[in-house]
This record gives sequence, structure tokens and C-alpha cells, in this order.
Amino acid sequence: MKSRTKTKPSKSTPSWTDATIAIQRGEPKHGRSGPVAPEIIRSSTFTFSSTAEMKRWAEGKSSAYIYTRYGNPTLAIAEEKIAALEGAEAAIVAASGMAAISSALLAVLSSGDEVISTAQLYGGTYRLMRDLFPRFGIRVRHVEADLAGVEDIVTPRARALYVETPTNPSLRLVDLRRAIAIAREFNLVSIVDNTFASPVLQKPLALGFDMVVHSATKYLGGHSDLVAGAVAGSHAWIHRVRDNIIYLGGCMDPAGAYLLIRGMKTLTVRIERQCKSAMAVAKFLERHPKVARVHYPGLASHPDHKLARRQMRDFGGMLSFDLKGGLAAARRFCDRVQLFALAASLGGVESLVILPIYTSHYNMSRDELHRAGVEPGTVRVSIGLEGPADLIADLRQALS
Ligand SMILES: Cc1ncc(COP(=O)(O)O)c(C=O)c1O
Repeated sequence: MKSRTKTKPSKSTPSWTDATIAIQRGEPKHGRSGPVAPEIIRSSTFTFSSTAEMKRWAEGKSSAYIYTRYGNPTLAIAEEKIAALEGAEAAIVAASGMAAISSALLAVLSSGDEVISTAQLYGGTYRLMRDLFPRFGIRVRHVEADLAGVEDIVTPRARALYVETPTNPSLRLVDLRRAIAIAREFNLVSIVDNTFASPVLQKPLALGFDMVVHSATKYLGGHSDLVAGAVAGSHAWIHRVRDNIIYLGGCMDPAGAYLLIRGMKTLTVRIERQCKSAMAVAKFLERHPKVARVHYPGLASHPDHKLARRQMRDFGGMLSFDLKGGLAAARRFCDRVQLFALAASLGGVESLVILPIYTSHYNMSRDELHRAGVEPGTVRVSIGLEGPADLIADLRQALS
């Protein structure tokens, strides 16, 4: 499709910081009286100029937009921003994080293959691997977040290494460099879920990962008003993922893409503030007599604190904690918060708390929960943009 406006250069712009990339990349560049905010191109379909052009498209010789499930100019703005933030050649947005994750994994895996994955994962990803993949002949082997013993379980059928760091909700870290070394040694395609860190805090592709996946519902969107996903990687991988989005139908809606674009413009300032507030909240909780353990990689007491200092720019806006009184105390706490909302999801401007056993990690056995690092009384906290003193005051009253 002929564009009415030029877009800003799509070549990498190494001198731009994330803050500038998030605002400027992919945006149409207008002349006089042009809109500054992007347009939502709602059209499901796009015109061909002639049957000759139609034929060229069918032969793979034209990259024109033809139908929104295949690609759309508003989606392309979000894709270019995410690719640039992740330092990737290309990116694709999807209808949800799970659409992105399933399309990325299925771009790699075929019947008879094995995927090696950390046991500590977002519950939805874990359940996808546990419940759906075996029906298509794909076997899943789990390892701990420290990847100990992975060499012993790799078989010639292993094709992919899938990790998430920091993990949801246990906030453990996977050593990205070690994961890459293992993937290279055994010729595995490496995929990492970068949802909790966001590209502002870590850039796994620069270390050698093949693909990064996101629930863009979370920090990238940032306002709890959108369900979205994204995959970033090489042109070749994103081409294969796009094929899966086209086959399986997990494309993003243009109105959703607009919200994602708008959300990403404030990504860096949101993350900066959320990291600061999360650290203040983590320190408060660590000193509280009713709290048994706080899981926040920014605390010196966290088992992966040194690794977090090495591989993350800051420690993120997510934390979890265990109360001395177990599940009963955790339920009492969650039922008493007033400023924090009792709601699933994370990464928005509103602070949220949940009990993972009843939300992200429902329908998992006691043993699976233990391997995922989830205790019955674990409370997960997503720090938003409210004043940190107000957040701490709410936690104090809910714990009293
Ligand atoms: C780390 C992580 N990855 C993936 C997902 C799935 O994303 P979505 O809900 O956008 O499909 C979630 C959702 O909570 C998540 O926390």
C-alpha cells in the first residue's frame, strides 16, 4: 500500500536512547499541519492498484498491506518500536502474550521435538506446555531457574530452550549468558519471556537469544486497558512467527495497537519510577514482623541479587512475599488492601496484588506449585505509579 506520509528511518539508530526510541521510532513523519499522534488504520482490507499488483503479491514479490491479519500500518508502528527497543531486526505484535508465545514456540517446534523450559514460568505458559503440546507430540522437559543439570536431560530431539526472567511470581532470575551458552552448545533455539523486565531493564537479543516474547498487556502497554503480545528477533524468525499469526489468527486489532503505541511512549519513565517504588516497598516489607520472606531481586537478601546487578539495569516493579501466617494470613491481607486493587495482571499504572495459587498459577498440583516457587501464602505485588508513601501506608494497614 502506498503510504501518504514518510515514516522515520527504519535503519537502526544506535545513538537514540530507549526513551527516544519509544516515542519516535516507527512514527509517520508529516509536513505542515500533520497529526503528531498516529492514526488508527481500522481497515480490515487494503486496495490493490491492479490485478498485476495482486499477482505480484501472490508471488511474494510485494510487501503491500492487503489484509490486517497479515499486517497493518498501525500495527507496524508498534512493531518497529518494539524491534528497536529490543535491538531486533524485526518484531510482530499479537492479540495477547499467549498468542505471541504459542506462535513463537510453534515456529520452532514440530511433532517429535522436545522443548527445555524452566519450571518457574507464568502459569499460562506452563499449562500450554503441559496440556496442549503433548497432544501434538511435543515433549516438555523442565529444569530449575538456575538451569542446573540441563546438560543431563538434553536429548538429540531437544530443539528449543525457553526461559522467563525474572520469573512470575517467584522473582528468580535465569542467568541469560549461561542460557545462551547452553543453547549454543546443544544447538537449541533460545526464547526468553522478557515481560517482567521489559526491554528497558534487559536486552536478551544482544546477548545472543534468538527470540524475545512479551505479554505487551503488561509494561509495554502499561495502563491495564489492553491485551497484547509481541515477539522480537531476526527477520527470518519473525517471518515464521508471522506465518503462525496468519494461520492461527492471533493478530492484534489496530485500536489495540494504538493503545500499545501510546503506552510505550512513557515506558521508560514508568519503569524508572516503578523500580524506585518497588525497592521502597520491598524494604518496608522485609522489615515487617509479619512477613517471612520478600522476593525482590533488588534486595541484598535475594539469592539472585548479584546476578540481577550483572544482567539487569534495575530490579523492576514486581515483587512477591510470603506471610508468616501462610494462606490464611495472605487472604486476610489481600482482602484488606484498599489502594492496591485485588486483580490479576501487572505492569500497569495501578498497583495490584494477587494470590498466584488462585490466579496465574491455578490448576497446578502442590508439586508443580512448589517447583514454580509458589507457596500457598505467596502474595504477588505489581507496583504502579501511585505515591510510594501511600502504597506503604496501605500495606501497613492491611498487615496490621
Ligand atoms: C510473564 C508472562 N508472560 C506471558 C503472559 C501471558 O500474557 P497475556 O495475558 O497477555 O496473554 C503473562 C500474563 O500474565 C505473564 O505474566
